[in-house]
Amino acid sequence: MSKVWLITGCSSGIGREIARVALERGDRVVATARNPESLAGLVEGFGERALAVGLDVTDGAQSRHAVDAAVAAFGRLDVVCSCAGYGIIAALEEHSEEQIEKNVTTNFVGPLRLFRAALPVMRAQRSGHLLVISAIAALANHEGFAVYGGAKAGLEGACEALALELRPLGIKVSMVLPGPTRTDFIGRSLEQGASKIADYDGTSGKFARLLAGMNGKQTGDPAKVAALTVALTDEASPPLRVVTGKYAVTRAKLKLKSVNAEVEAWEARGVATDF
Ligand SMILES: NC(=O)c1ccc[n+]([C@@H]2O[C@H](COP(=O)([O-])OP(=O)(O)OC[C@H]3O[C@@H](n4cnc5c(N)ncnc54)[C@H](OP(=O)(O)O)[C@@H]3O)[C@@H](O)[C@H]2O)c1
Repeated sequence: MSKVWLITGCSSGIGREIARVALERGDRVVATARNPESLAGLVEGFGERALAVGLDVTDGAQSRHAVDAAVAAFGRLDVVCSCAGYGIIAALEEHSEEQIEKNVTTNFVGPLRLFRAALPVMRAQRSGHLLVISAIAALANHEGFAVYGGAKAGLEGACEALALELRPLGIKVSMVLPGPTRTDFIGRSLEQGASKIADYDGTSGKFARLLAGMNGKQTGDPAKVAALTVALTDEASPPLRVVTGKYAVTRAKLKLKSVNAEVEAWEARGVATDF
């Protein structure tokens, strides 16, 4: 049956591709972006199956309005997909207070507010799927991504809890953790710190240069990431996490191995703290 989607961050990149894949397969889509004019080319040709709505995810009222618009237009809501997000590459001390707050609001608080707005509809239906475009940095982070990767990791932790509390209500939760994917992310969606501290040149500074050199050459194809994301909604038991691209899969496996090794190395002393 054709699904009803609400997608954030459809002005470009992965979010736009997800909206396109969903529309092309016959689903109904509320595509959102901070600037709804950027959605004209996306929704064109899909008639009443596509609705363009303005949504800045840092504004909770706009999230509630987008959910209301979806229900008013299509009578239900099957998939809410949080794609909107941006990075900030800097050592923690190089961030301003405002940069930290805005990044965490966009990448962590915003998606939770959106889900909170959508959940009454999904609970009443006893069905739905919350989808998050997370990042490999949420699982295996880099120097310079304390705030961006930290916010994504926070969202990942929240989604683990959501999956448990929503499963009995028929609502599914899945996260996609992309590795470097060829979008605007390293360009216009990657902020620099507010200051530069020479002591961090060899760590976060080095990673920032590596990212800059990678722009336009990222190995991940956003159309394929989108196709896989959309396919998750057809699974009876979708995974909580999917990691995309060889680079990210390799990092995820190394990380899990090292966590396991560390838990085991400290197991005896950790267990010994019990009464
Ligand atoms: N590409 C990668 O390598 C990569 C890797 C891991 C994770 N990701 C994640 O993938 C997601 C999509 O990014 P992308 O790669 O497709 O890059 P992108 O093309 O730059 O897309 C980012 C999108 O987020 C939107 N956005 C940012 N702040 C917003 C806000 N406050 N409210 C609403 N929309 C907002 C942007 O809208 P505007 O046009 O208004 O700026 C844009 O549509 C992000 O969450 C990113 O963290 C990307």
